Amino acid sequence: MTTVRDYIRTIADFPHEGIMFRDVTTLFADPRGFRMAIDQLLHPYAGTRFDTVVGLEARGFILGGAVAHQLSAGFVPVRKKGKLPGAVISESYTLEYGEAVVEVHDDAITPGDRILLVDDLLATGGTAEAGIRLMERLGAEIIGCAFIIDLPDLGGRTRLEALGMDVHALCSFEGD
Ligand code: PRP
Ligand code: MG
Repeated sequence: MTTVRDYIRTIADFPHEGIMFRDVTTLFADPRGFRMAIDQLLHPYAGTRFDTVVGLEARGFILGGAVAHQLSAGFVPVRKKGKLPGAVISESYTLEYGEAVVEVHDDAITPGDRILLVDDLLATGGTAEAGIRLMERLGAEIIGCAFIIDLPDLGGRTRLEALGMDVHALCSFEGD
Protein backbone atom coordinates (compact mmCIF):
# COMPACT_ATOMS: atom_id res chain seq x y z
CA MET A 1 0.00 0.00 0.00
CA THR A 2 1.24 3.47 -0.86
CA THR A 3 1.81 5.65 2.19
CA VAL A 4 2.01 9.42 2.59
CA ARG A 5 5.78 9.09 2.84
CA ASP A 6 5.92 7.40 -0.57
CA TYR A 7 4.45 10.51 -2.24
CA ILE A 8 7.18 12.80 -0.87
CA ARG A 9 10.00 13.48 -3.29
CA THR A 10 13.56 13.95 -2.07
CA ILE A 11 15.79 16.39 -3.91
CA ALA A 12 19.46 16.24 -3.01
CA ASP A 13 21.53 19.39 -2.46
CA PHE A 14 18.60 21.87 -2.29
CA PRO A 15 18.65 24.69 -1.27
CA HIS A 16 22.35 24.06 -0.82
CA GLU A 17 24.84 21.24 -0.90
CA GLY A 18 24.38 18.51 1.66
CA ILE A 19 20.67 19.14 2.27
CA MET A 20 18.18 16.42 1.35
CA PHE A 21 15.08 18.50 0.60
CA ARG A 22 11.79 16.75 1.36
CA ASP A 23 9.47 18.04 -1.33
CA VAL A 24 5.76 17.78 -0.49
CA THR A 25 4.58 19.27 -3.79
CA THR A 26 4.44 15.73 -5.19
CA LEU A 27 2.24 14.69 -2.25
CA PHE A 28 -0.03 17.71 -2.64
CA ALA A 29 -0.33 17.21 -6.41
CA ASP A 30 -1.59 13.65 -6.14
CA PRO A 31 -5.37 13.38 -5.49
CA ARG A 32 -5.02 10.27 -3.33
CA GLY A 33 -1.90 11.51 -1.61
CA PHE A 34 -3.38 14.85 -0.66
CA ARG A 35 -6.58 13.33 0.69
CA MET A 36 -4.60 10.72 2.61
CA ALA A 37 -2.42 13.42 4.15
CA ILE A 38 -5.38 15.54 5.28
CA ASP A 39 -7.26 12.51 6.62
CA GLN A 40 -4.23 11.32 8.56
CA LEU A 41 -3.47 14.78 9.94
CA LEU A 42 -6.98 14.79 11.39
CA HIS A 43 -7.00 11.21 12.60
CA PRO A 44 -5.86 11.73 16.23
CA TYR A 45 -8.38 14.52 16.72
CA ALA A 46 -11.59 12.65 15.90
CA GLY A 47 -14.27 13.98 18.23
CA THR A 48 -12.09 16.92 19.33
CA ARG A 49 -13.53 20.41 18.97
CA PHE A 50 -11.39 23.16 17.47
CA ASP A 51 -12.18 26.82 16.94
CA THR A 52 -9.25 27.61 14.69
CA VAL A 53 -6.57 25.98 12.60
CA VAL A 54 -3.34 28.00 12.54
CA GLY A 55 -1.14 27.47 9.47
CA LEU A 56 2.54 28.40 9.27
CA GLU A 57 3.68 30.08 6.06
CA ALA A 58 3.95 28.80 3.44
CA ARG A 59 3.13 25.12 3.08
CA GLY A 60 1.17 25.15 6.32
CA PHE A 61 -1.38 27.32 4.50
CA ILE A 62 -2.12 24.61 1.95
CA LEU A 63 -2.63 21.99 4.63
CA GLY A 64 -4.28 24.28 7.15
CA GLY A 65 -7.01 25.42 4.78
CA ALA A 66 -8.04 21.86 3.97
CA VAL A 67 -7.84 20.79 7.62
CA ALA A 68 -9.89 23.80 8.78
CA HIS A 69 -12.57 23.09 6.20
CA GLN A 70 -12.79 19.48 7.35
CA LEU A 71 -13.04 20.53 11.02
CA SER A 72 -15.52 23.33 10.25
CA ALA A 73 -13.02 25.57 12.02
CA GLY A 74 -11.64 28.97 11.07
CA PHE A 75 -8.18 29.46 9.60
CA VAL A 76 -5.54 31.90 10.81
CA PRO A 77 -2.24 32.43 8.98
CA VAL A 78 1.08 32.96 10.75
CA ARG A 79 3.04 34.91 8.18
CA LYS A 80 6.57 36.02 7.57
CA LYS A 81 7.29 39.59 8.61
CA GLY A 82 5.61 42.42 6.75
CA LYS A 83 2.88 40.49 4.93
CA LEU A 84 -0.15 41.08 7.16
CA PRO A 85 -2.03 44.37 6.73
CA GLY A 86 -3.42 44.88 10.24
CA ALA A 87 -1.87 45.31 13.68
CA VAL A 88 0.36 42.33 14.46
CA ILE A 89 2.41 40.72 17.19
CA SER A 90 5.78 39.25 16.22
CA GLU A 91 8.17 36.53 17.29
CA SER A 92 11.69 35.95 16.03
CA TYR A 93 13.40 32.61 15.69
CA THR A 94 16.82 31.36 14.71
CA LEU A 95 17.57 29.98 11.27
CA GLU A 96 20.68 28.17 10.11
CA TYR A 97 22.05 31.59 9.14
CA GLY A 98 20.54 34.50 11.03
CA GLU A 99 17.05 35.23 12.27
CA ALA A 100 13.53 35.24 10.89
CA VAL A 101 10.35 36.86 12.16
CA VAL A 102 6.78 35.60 11.98
CA GLU A 103 3.65 37.58 12.72
CA VAL A 104 -0.04 37.14 13.35
CA HIS A 105 -2.85 39.68 13.53
CA ASP A 106 -3.27 40.70 17.15
CA ASP A 107 -7.03 40.15 16.95
CA ALA A 108 -6.92 36.81 15.08
CA ILE A 109 -7.58 34.70 18.19
CA THR A 110 -10.05 35.10 21.05
CA PRO A 111 -8.51 34.09 24.39
CA GLY A 112 -9.47 30.50 25.13
CA ASP A 113 -9.82 29.53 21.46
CA ARG A 114 -8.92 25.90 20.93
CA ILE A 115 -6.39 25.72 18.12
CA LEU A 116 -4.55 23.18 15.98
CA LEU A 117 -1.18 24.32 14.64
CA VAL A 118 -0.29 22.89 11.20
CA ASP A 119 2.84 22.88 9.06
CA ASP A 120 4.40 20.58 6.49
CA LEU A 121 7.66 19.83 8.27
CA LEU A 122 9.14 19.80 11.77
CA ALA A 123 12.92 20.20 11.69
CA THR A 124 14.54 22.16 14.55
CA GLY A 125 11.12 23.28 15.73
CA GLY A 126 12.10 26.95 15.63
CA THR A 127 9.30 27.95 13.27
CA ALA A 128 6.67 26.01 15.20
CA GLU A 129 7.90 27.34 18.53
CA ALA A 130 7.56 30.90 17.23
CA GLY A 131 3.99 30.10 16.17
CA ILE A 132 3.30 28.58 19.58
CA ARG A 133 4.63 31.67 21.35
CA LEU A 134 2.39 33.89 19.21
CA MET A 135 -0.62 31.75 20.05
CA GLU A 136 0.19 31.70 23.75
CA ARG A 137 0.52 35.50 23.78
CA LEU A 138 -2.98 35.73 22.29
CA GLY A 139 -4.37 33.36 24.93
CA ALA A 140 -5.07 30.40 22.65
CA GLU A 141 -5.36 26.90 24.00
CA ILE A 142 -3.06 24.82 21.77
CA ILE A 143 -4.63 21.39 21.52
CA GLY A 144 -2.12 19.93 19.07
CA CYS A 145 0.67 20.54 16.56
CA ALA A 146 0.38 18.47 13.37
CA PHE A 147 3.00 17.97 10.65
CA ILE A 148 3.41 15.80 7.58
CA ILE A 149 7.12 15.18 8.18
CA ASP A 150 9.27 14.94 11.29
CA LEU A 151 13.05 15.09 11.03
CA PRO A 152 13.86 13.60 14.44
CA ASP A 153 17.60 14.13 14.09
CA LEU A 154 16.98 17.88 14.31
CA GLY A 155 15.13 17.66 17.61
CA GLY A 156 11.95 19.58 16.88
CA ARG A 157 9.59 17.07 18.44
CA THR A 158 11.59 16.97 21.65
CA ARG A 159 11.67 20.75 21.72
CA LEU A 160 7.91 21.11 21.29
CA GLU A 161 7.12 18.32 23.74
CA ALA A 162 9.31 20.09 26.29
CA LEU A 163 6.92 23.03 25.89
CA GLY A 164 4.07 20.70 26.77
CA MET A 165 2.83 20.31 23.20
CA ASP A 166 1.10 17.28 21.77
CA VAL A 167 2.97 16.57 18.51
CA HIS A 168 1.56 14.53 15.63
CA ALA A 169 3.59 13.71 12.49
CA LEU A 170 2.66 11.39 9.65
CA CYS A 171 6.14 10.18 8.77
CA SER A 172 9.79 10.77 9.47
CA PHE A 173 13.11 10.85 7.65
CA GLU A 174 16.23 10.02 9.61
CA GLY A 175 19.90 9.63 9.16
CA ASP A 176 20.82 12.08 6.42
C1 PRP B 1 10.41 25.06 6.35
C2 PRP B 1 9.24 24.15 6.67
C3 PRP B 1 8.88 24.53 8.09
C4 PRP B 1 10.23 24.94 8.67
C5 PRP B 1 10.74 23.85 9.58
O1 PRP B 1 9.89 26.31 6.03
O2 PRP B 1 8.16 24.39 5.77
O3 PRP B 1 7.99 25.65 8.11
O4 PRP B 1 11.13 25.11 7.56
O5 PRP B 1 12.02 24.17 10.07
P1 PRP B 1 12.30 24.35 11.60
O6 PRP B 1 11.53 23.28 12.34
O7 PRP B 1 13.78 24.15 11.72
O8 PRP B 1 11.87 25.71 12.01
P2 PRP B 1 10.77 27.47 5.40
O9 PRP B 1 11.35 28.28 6.51
O10 PRP B 1 11.71 26.87 4.42
O11 PRP B 1 9.72 28.43 4.67
P3 PRP B 1 8.49 28.17 3.69
O12 PRP B 1 7.57 27.16 4.32
O13 PRP B 1 7.85 29.52 3.58
O14 PRP B 1 9.05 27.68 2.37
MG1 MG C 1 7.64 26.45 6.20
